[in-house]
Amino acid sequence: VKIGVLGTGVVGTTIAAKLRELGHDVLIGSRSAGEDAVPFADAAAHGEVVFNCTGGMVSLEALGLAGAENLSGKVLVDVSNPLDFSKGRPPTLSVCNDDSVGEQIQRTFPDVHVVKTLNTVTAAVMVQPGLVPGRHTIFVCGNDTGAKAQAGELLQGFGWPADAILDLGDITAARGMEMYLTLWLRLYGATGTAVLNVEVRPGR
Ligand SMILES: NC(=O)c1ccc[n+]([C@@H]2O[C@H](COP(=O)([O-])OP(=O)(O)OC[C@H]3O[C@@H](n4cnc5c(N)ncnc54)[C@H](OP(=O)(O)O)[C@@H]3O)[C@@H](O)[C@H]2O)c1
Repeated sequence: VKIGVLGTGVVGTTIAAKLRELGHDVLIGSRSAGEDAVPFADAAAHGEVVFNCTGGMVSLEALGLAGAENLSGKVLVDVSNPLDFSKGRPPTLSVCNDDSVGEQIQRTFPDVHVVKTLNTVTAAVMVQPGLVPGRHTIFVCGNDTGAKAQAGELLQGFGWPADAILDLGDITAARGMEMYLTLWLRLYGATGTAVLNVEVRPGR
């Protein structure tokens, strides 16, 4: 599959490397072309599926550079978190409670099929869930069932078992998925490792 990965940070490079290993045709997007990156617009135009791996506070800016016309009708897998480090650590969330980056993107690009996923685990775990022992859960949400199914196939390619993928419903579920980061940061502090995840185990 032709895939555009927007973002040159640890997440973008990790996801792009894994997708290439799986045989996908990947272009990495950046604000400026570099050794292994093309402009956001070129990466978005290339992708049948596009990953947003840019900072949550700048995602709308990055996607604006990618261009609505290059994203139109496509599945956009959004892994961003709205972490605001401007007041130091721990970061606050630049959007929360009754809105989320996932929804901001969906509102700004109404004919894009936004699927929020992978934002609740560290980059290495995104593409190698086996780093965390045992069963554990990855969340997805979005308004389009077909888009979520397509994202789910990519997740399974990354190594997530089908029954580990928990569909939380429409894109408004991105609020909880993004606000979970405040808990994730505490889990990181308490365990001393970013290689961690939670399992949702429904009772009867
Ligand atoms: N780190 C993790 O393990 C992890 C885990 C889960 C979720 N996330 C989320 O995944 C996303 C990516 O994280 P990251 O640590 O890999 O990278 P990052 O440093 O948050 O983002 C890097 C990307 O953002 C772009 N960018 C920065 N400022 C911009 C601006 N003003 N306008 C447009 N684009 C701009 C950069 O463009 P250039 O290429 O031009 O520099 C770069 O491609 C974030 O939202 C993060 O919260 C991270």
